[in-house]
Amino acid sequence: MRVLALESSCDESAVAVLDEHAGLLGHGLFSQIDLHRAYGGVVPELAARDHVQRLLPLLEQVLREAEAASPGRPEGIAYTAGPGLIGALLTGAALARSLAFAWGVPALGVHHLEGHLLAPLLEPDPPPFPHVALLVSGGHTLLMEVSGIGRYRTLGASRDDAAGEAFDKSAKLLGLPYPGGPQLAALAARGRRGAVQLPRPMLDRPGLEFSFSGLKTAVRNLIADRALDEAARADIACAVQDAIVATLSAKALRALESTGLSVLVVSGGVSANAHLRESLTRAAHARGARVYYPRLEFSTDNAAMIAVAGLARLRAGEHDDLAIQARTHWPLESLTAPS
Ligand code: KG4
Ligand code: ZN
Repeated sequence: MRVLALESSCDESAVAVLDEHAGLLGHGLFSQIDLHRAYGGVVPELAARDHVQRLLPLLEQVLREAEAASPGRPEGIAYTAGPGLIGALLTGAALARSLAFAWGVPALGVHHLEGHLLAPLLEPDPPPFPHVALLVSGGHTLLMEVSGIGRYRTLGASRDDAAGEAFDKSAKLLGLPYPGGPQLAALAARGRRGAVQLPRPMLDRPGLEFSFSGLKTAVRNLIADRALDEAARADIACAVQDAIVATLSAKALRALESTGLSVLVVSGGVSANAHLRESLTRAAHARGARVYYPRLEFSTDNAAMIAVAGLARLRAGEHDDLAIQARTHWPLESLTAPS
């Protein structure tokens, strides 16, 4: 089966074509970073309007690329149906549903986080099931036990801010432009490790819950109204990154221990962080566990991951009726395994 996938849940418009046998035949992405930068964050109305402009040209380009790689028409369409910004979701959903109706093929609304969880399956050495997944994005921080596609059990989650949010909000306090995560990581690389100490929330408590909102307050207090030079800001950025990475690593290892599993998958935008990758790989190897990541371009939002989840489900015969699906909230655990 060959699947066309559309992603438009937030600030990236993305299209991909995945073939069950030939693999990924084409993918493209347009990031709206430049559009939202002046506002310091994503403006939902602007995001939706921009998806409307970008999706069709991107679709044409990716379909052409896929056709050149291996001729054939998509036999199903997957689109991100949530969670995300409602206006942004509706643009991709409406396009996907209309195309499916015109082509006479099934369409299926895919869970964005299931896409992130399954993104490492695109790699040449995919992770085996069962495994523990650490899903760290702009909106979610989750530790999941993944027994198979659609078989997800939450082990722990953030009680407040997500890890990506902690990066982004601290970056904003340090005067860095949106999107803060990668900017803060770049500044941290120039800082001195240990020069500044920040709390590591809930690290010393048992369990697999996270809390990151205290970190933002600590950074705000540290900065107060002082004029900080570049070196001082870099030291703070380094401490923020260390605190987030230490917390994520410790809880992920604890999840491996408590489940008795030895395979860890790390996905979502924050999994692009080099320091997190180094730290987790080192710590997991020391315990005889293996860690799997998506390639960097599929760590952050993309349509290839939506195609993986969509292909697994469409191939099993799942599809939506003619209604357009778009959900701002959608618990991952409500998903079931494709039959
Ligand atoms: O998965 P994603 O692209 O979108 C959501 O589904 O939320 O994740 C975006 C998040 C943002 O908070 C962004 O700052 C963070 O991932 N991020 C990073 C890095 N690259 C992206 N955080 C830290 N270091 C990075 N290199
Ligand atoms: Zn995402």
